[in-house]
Amino acid sequence: MAWETYYKEHLCSMEELLRRLPKENVTYITSHAAGEPKAINHAIAENFALFHNVTIFNLLVVGEAPYCRPEMAGHLRYRTIFAGSDTRTPIAEKRADYVPLYYHQCPDYVRTKLKPDVAILHVSPPDTHGWCSFGVTVDFQMAAAETASLVVAQVNPLMPRTLGNCRIHISQIDYLVEATQALAQVPPARIGDVEKAIGANCAALIHDRDCLQLGIGAIPDAVLSLLGSKRELGIHSEMVSDGIVDMMEAGVITNRYKQLDVGASTATFLMGTDKLYRYAHDNPGFNMTPVDYSNDPRVICRQDNMVAVNSALQLDLFGQVAADTMGKLQFSGPGGQVDFIRGTNMSRGGRNIIAMPSTAKHGTLSRISLLLPTGSAVTTNRFDVDYVITEYGTAQLWGKTLTQRAEALISIAHPDFRDALKKEYQLYY
Ligand code: COA
Repeated sequence: MAWETYYKEHLCSMEELLRRLPKENVTYITSHAAGEPKAINHAIAENFALFHNVTIFNLLVVGEAPYCRPEMAGHLRYRTIFAGSDTRTPIAEKRADYVPLYYHQCPDYVRTKLKPDVAILHVSPPDTHGWCSFGVTVDFQMAAAETASLVVAQVNPLMPRTLGNCRIHISQIDYLVEATQALAQVPPARIGDVEKAIGANCAALIHDRDCLQLGIGAIPDAVLSLLGSKRELGIHSEMVSDGIVDMMEAGVITNRYKQLDVGASTATFLMGTDKLYRYAHDNPGFNMTPVDYSNDPRVICRQDNMVAVNSALQLDLFGQVAADTMGKLQFSGPGGQVDFIRGTNMSRGGRNIIAMPSTAKHGTLSRISLLLPTGSAVTTNRFDVDYVITEYGTAQLWGKTLTQRAEALISIAHPDFRDALKKEYQLYY
């Protein structure tokens, strides 16, 4: 059958889709972040009374997560590997569930443990051969489509057709709903003096022809903005945001000296504004891939001179990094932090950097502390961490003794906390 005929026959309205979805004791998996199919997900949440004991899994919710509201109890229950602003409280109140996982393991988790019944995808309109792109969020979408017995998709004309290993043929989708939806906009963070100083310290460790992974937020944005004088950089990252556009256009990022994906910036999801989404449309300068490629340490380490820049909430004086919990609060998730740190550690010439402001809570709390607060999980352990950067400088930890580590970290703590940290360390150790 011609794909155009298949498309017409499998197109349905939202009401029809809601009628056709299995509604009891089943698991749904959906795309997420800027790629969340909100038209479908919100329609399910609005009609929650029709559903009973349905698990909804995805990763990062940008904006509202209506399927986490208290009234969903018994109907819809949310599960994730990454807490966000709208899902953190439901997880803390045990109305939603958190699964500790490295991001690169997610497709395997989907295939072998989650085993979803329904995959809810969000795709670009088909190309002339009937292929749709997963667009801005690729990560575990193919694993979801291959595993679920029912595959549905929101077809959105505003979803860019990204290139790479990120497409699905129309014939693999059971029901299609056309719905135009503006993609979530995550504008660049405000870069203040602290972020600028941290960015400059990071930039000093980045050389021409390095291959970079940068996370999201003010610090990665500041790092990128300070790399204008570098030459021939590459990108192999989990996600990329708006900052990459200017650097690719200016020829600072060329991806020419990568060992894999030469000529293209590798990522598994895009999160920024329409500036980025429009730039990525049909652009072979991007290689969008499943997360078990982009984030697999065994792949990452094949890029020489790989540099990973990630952030943290708190660090103890031995170098243990808490990046996903604040005490016992599940604040976010490890995402790709450990994936990239392990990958860079095995890369020829690789460097890993944890970059964070020296204080939190408006200067009242040192992020460098003797011990992590009770209940904190260690995201990156002290054996893996190497460079730690604050606005006060750089501490290089790998190969140092416990006391040398403590001294190096105290030297980059906020000056207001250094004496207390020294005393605490002497009393404790
Ligand atoms: N105790 C109490 N409050 C703290 C704190 C601590 N130890 N550390 C930070 N905070 C507060 C901050 O002051 C800030 O509050 P504010 O919004 O009122 O100013 C808030 O918590 C958020 O902290 P911030 O450092 O600004 O967060 P961020 O948005 O830069 O994100 C991480 C930092 C660590 C949470 C984030 O990078 C993350 O989740 N990392 C793990 C995943 C990862 O690295 N993925 C790979 C790359 S995509």
